[in-house]
Amino acid sequence: MEERKKLTIPDLQAMVERKEKITFLTAYDYPTALLEDRAGMDMILVGDSGAMCLLGHKSTLPATMDFMVTITAAVCRAATRAFVVGDMPYMSYQPSDEVAIRNAGRFIAEGGADAVKLEGGARMADRIRAIVKAGIPVMGHIGLTPQAASMIGGLKAQGRSARAAQALLDDAQALEEAGVFAILLEAIPAKVAELIVERSKVIVLSIGSGPACHGQLLIVHDILSLFEAFTPKFVKKYADVASVMLQAFQNYIKDVKAGKFPAPEHTYAIPKEEWEALAEMARRSTKGS
Ligand code: KIV
Repeated sequence: MEERKKLTIPDLQAMVERKEKITFLTAYDYPTALLEDRAGMDMILVGDSGAMCLLGHKSTLPATMDFMVTITAAVCRAATRAFVVGDMPYMSYQPSDEVAIRNAGRFIAEGGADAVKLEGGARMADRIRAIVKAGIPVMGHIGLTPQAASMIGGLKAQGRSARAAQALLDDAQALEEAGVFAILLEAIPAKVAELIVERSKVIVLSIGSGPACHGQLLIVHDILSLFEAFTPKFVKKYADVASVMLQAFQNYIKDVKAGKFPAPEHTYAIPKEEWEALAEMARRSTKGS
């Protein structure tokens, strides 16, 4: 059997050095993470997008620490090789260094994650410095940062003016100086992402930010067609799992309504002598009454 050695940050850095692209996908549950890991995914993000994809919320904001830690632990039980990143939910790191360190620590100690991710550029640099100082690897996340959607004008591409692109370059530098091991760029122009990659010494990952980055992230429910509310421009759908599930549910309903399920092979038998003994018991109790 193939040995499933858990990937570490030096392993990911070595992939960057040998120009091997890093593969990265979200997961929010054990069976999905098991298949991603088995497929050979290098990294798994337990994203707060789970609040939308799993729980049906309209934004990521309602994700709580307890929810995130529970699903991170499920994913980590499945990930024997993939490097797992826990996504710090809204208000789990914004209030203070102390709150941020405590909650980042829960992802590692209770969830079993290998690192945490949080949103924000230069304004989050000190917070990141404090978490890293506590010994927890941090991935920065800039560009489209969904937790700040109302501040940045909604879920739309960022960094499309010279000024905004320069701000992203400054943010990336601030994150690097704060000690992140990786920066995730969400929905920024490919050329701006390329500039960030050229100037960075850390791993730069993309979700909707073009091919120059060291690796690519997508949301698993998007690529499987399991999220219907909207589809960002950068998503490529790899399977229509929704149709397969719908068909299975419709077939089950049809079979149950038609009395075709369960068939004899789906039922348990009782040994003949036990059945006869039961009949005898029934006879006796009828006589006695
Ligand atoms: O929660 C998530 O899945 C994310 C990605 C959109 C980057 O943060």
